[in-house]
Amino acid sequence: MIVFKKIASLQQHLQRIQQNGGSVGFVPTMGALHQGHIQLTERSIAEGQFTVCSIFVNPTQFNDKDDFAKYPITVENDIVQLEAAGVQALFLPSVEEIYPNGTALPENAYPLGFLDQVFEAAHRPGHFQGVCQVVHRLLDIVQPDKLYMGQKDYQQCMVIRKLLDLTGLDTRTELIICPTMRETDGLAMSSRNRRLPETDRQVAPTIYELLQYAREKAGELPLPEIEEYALAQLTAAGFKPDYFAFARASDLQPVGRYENDTKLIVVVAAFLGQVRLIDNILL
Ligand code: PAJ
Repeated sequence: MIVFKKIASLQQHLQRIQQNGGSVGFVPTMGALHQGHIQLTERSIAEGQFTVCSIFVNPTQFNDKDDFAKYPITVENDIVQLEAAGVQALFLPSVEEIYPNGTALPENAYPLGFLDQVFEAAHRPGHFQGVCQVVHRLLDIVQPDKLYMGQKDYQQCMVIRKLLDLTGLDTRTELIICPTMRETDGLAMSSRNRRLPETDRQVAPTIYELLQYAREKAGELPLPEIEEYALAQLTAAGFKPDYFAFARASDLQPVGRYENDTKLIVVVAAFLGQVRLIDNILL
């Protein structure tokens, strides 16, 4: 695997690949890699592409300074995992390389509409603007044929779909959404899990249990009742929930009633101690 720290040398390499008719698959990450990330690279490799992974802890998407300061950095171990997976190139830029003119962004630079108001957006002001800022920049640099992202961050996937649409990049890059990878007890893999103390780690799978419960009961009980029950269960288990809600999978509009012909998703975010966990399940 070649490690590129500079845009110019990465682009030179990618141009050669593309001139020879090769296609490029891209997996953007913030590092502290786990199997959830690795499966994205494996999918890209299996689809026969020259696969580029990026590791960049993007400062502009952290609304919480403490979360940014404590974000785990494990580059050496990340490199071992990427090598083992067969990834051909790692892009490991500095903040100056990504933002040579500073990080300032006009307000609502990316008009995401409702997606920038609900759930994650409501609880993390500016987060998705920062995500769009960095992904837009990375896509301009890498110009991939396919972009691989995880369902774990469902709202982020929808935001990136909208970004591709807003920028016209959808004609060049296809978004591939891959399933959520879980630990054996159901906890969605996340870089932040390693910040959970052992006692909290044991409680954390409650989130997935409640998502499964919600999926099972959706056709049976009123949805608001399920939501209330889940929020109460989370609180009783020691979480501080931000939301637990049914929404339309197509646009994340909250729904109050079960309808057979509408694809639904249950989305949840909750603090466990200092660590904020998110998850979702499609119905
Ligand atoms: P990060 O949290 O490192 O995640 C990188 C990619 O891995 C995202 O597409 C995310 O959805 C996916 N992913 C993380 N955990 C997963 C799991 N358990 N199962 C499946 N996929 C999983 O998301 C970001 O970084 C950043 O916001 C980024 C897009 C890189 C922009 O900075």
